Amino acid sequence: VDPRCPGALPEGQNNPQICPYGLYSEQLSGSAFTCPRAANKRSWLYRILPSVRHKPFTPLSCGNLSDNWNEVEPDPNQLRWKPFTITKASEKKVDFVSGLRTLCGAGDAKSRNGIAVHIYTCNASMLDKCFQNSDGDFLIVPQQGEILITTEFGKMMVEPNEICVLQQGMRFSVDVFGETRGYILEVYGTHFELPDLGPIGANGLANPRDFQVPVAWFEDRTVGTTYTVINKYQGKLFSCQQEFSPFNVVAWHGNYTPYKYNLENFMVINCVAFDHADPSIFTVLTAKSTRPGVAIADFVIFPPRWGVAEHTFRPPYYHRNCMSEFMGLIKGQYEAKEEGFQPGGGSLHSIMTPHGPDADCFDKNSTANLQPERVAEGTMAFMFESSFSMAVTKWGLETCQRLDKNYYKCWEPLRNHFNPNWAPDRK
Ligand SMILES: *[C@@H]1O[C@H](CO)[C@@H](O)[C@H](O)[C@H]1NC(C)=O
Ligand SMILES: *[C@@H]1O[C@H](CO)[C@@H](O)[C@H](O)[C@H]1NC(C)=O
Ligand SMILES: *[C@@H]1O[C@H](CO)[C@@H](O)[C@H](O)[C@H]1NC(C)=O
Ligand SMILES: [Fe+2]
Repeated sequence: VDPRCPGALPEGQNNPQICPYGLYSEQLSGSAFTCPRAANKRSWLYRILPSVRHKPFTPLSCGNLSDNWNEVEPDPNQLRWKPFTITKASEKKVDFVSGLRTLCGAGDAKSRNGIAVHIYTCNASMLDKCFQNSDGDFLIVPQQGEILITTEFGKMMVEPNEICVLQQGMRFSVDVFGETRGYILEVYGTHFELPDLGPIGANGLANPRDFQVPVAWFEDRTVGTTYTVINKYQGKLFSCQQEFSPFNVVAWHGNYTPYKYNLENFMVINCVAFDHADPSIFTVLTAKSTRPGVAIADFVIFPPRWGVAEHTFRPPYYHRNCMSEFMGLIKGQYEAKEEGFQPGGGSLHSIMTPHGPDADCFDKNSTANLQPERVAEGTMAFMFESSFSMAVTKWGLETCQRLDKNYYKCWEPLRNHFNPNWAPDRK
């Protein structure tokens, strides 16, 4: 309840004949009505006018936003991007929506099964404009510049090293305070949830208490006929006009909400004897597919921590995976590649594409005298890991002009150390 209107939440029922303060009641459903109780998501919004009071939607240019996964030929190479360029305000006003660019993805919004990775770069706030994604959920990872997100549920300030989730259908507007850049993981047809912990027990990884939800905030603002609602629907953008601010929810209740999380609160678990746990120990949130244990997408982070494993090659192992791995860097230096992978850039290691530490990292870590060591100090790298075989868009491969053509060269110096006369007792 917005503190300006105490008692705005109807008592004892969701949908009274007349709501307090003359508000309209509106339900936002985030799951099928009949979903099992644990997965059932909905909220009741008590608002000055219902969302339905708007002029018709008409198509809007999608810019570099795409859901066409056949724009360019498939590319099974290791791909790496230099930091994505932020349009300067002096050139053109680019806000959060016009600054959305799709990098890669797979599946589709219509059959409610798929994923997209977008980059946003912007330098202007959304003025009298809000966005609603009818296709799926946005997990937003700010990399540069904090963003003030006004939602139907209230406001959230989200800074780099925090993440937020705007679930399907929730209207929001983004204010920025300078040159702003970040990553978005979009999933169609399911919601993000905390991973199960199994033998880890009740505590660990991202703990439920650290997720924050906004409190109701409203404005009773009439704007003539100039408030624009942008709707991403079946991969395309549409806009409509209405006469009032959509942030007119005076009170709400329910379990379908936007939320944010500070990555510093993540309780890191790792090996304390020998060998290497899989990176799934770093999963913050997962969007499950219908196959047990297989995610549409996992959001995984590599926080500062201690490396203590004995007689072990500690950096990430050399790997070929039946999943796709998109990585981004919020800040610092990623331990397996100190050169080339920069904050605001990214890399994609597609299904069964080999990847692993560069030659420099291999050399240092296979000869180092092992002792407890801080890993990833001042750094936050993350991974969007998906069971989908993602296609890169034309923007990703060509238009953005940030592809690092020399990426493969970081593995070229790996040498052959094979010694057929090596005797186990001599080492
Ligand atoms: C598409 O992306 C390019 C490169 O990032 C940018 O220069 C261009 O302005 C974008 N186009 C639109 C319509 O936003
Ligand atoms: C956008 O960038 C310019 C140039 O870097 C800066 O002076 C301006 O304050 C920025 N605009 C906003 C809204 O922050
Ligand atoms: C492993 O390699 C990384 C990158 O080269 C380096 O930062 C780190 O200190 C190395 N660790 C050890 C134990 O050698
Ligand atoms: Fe991997």
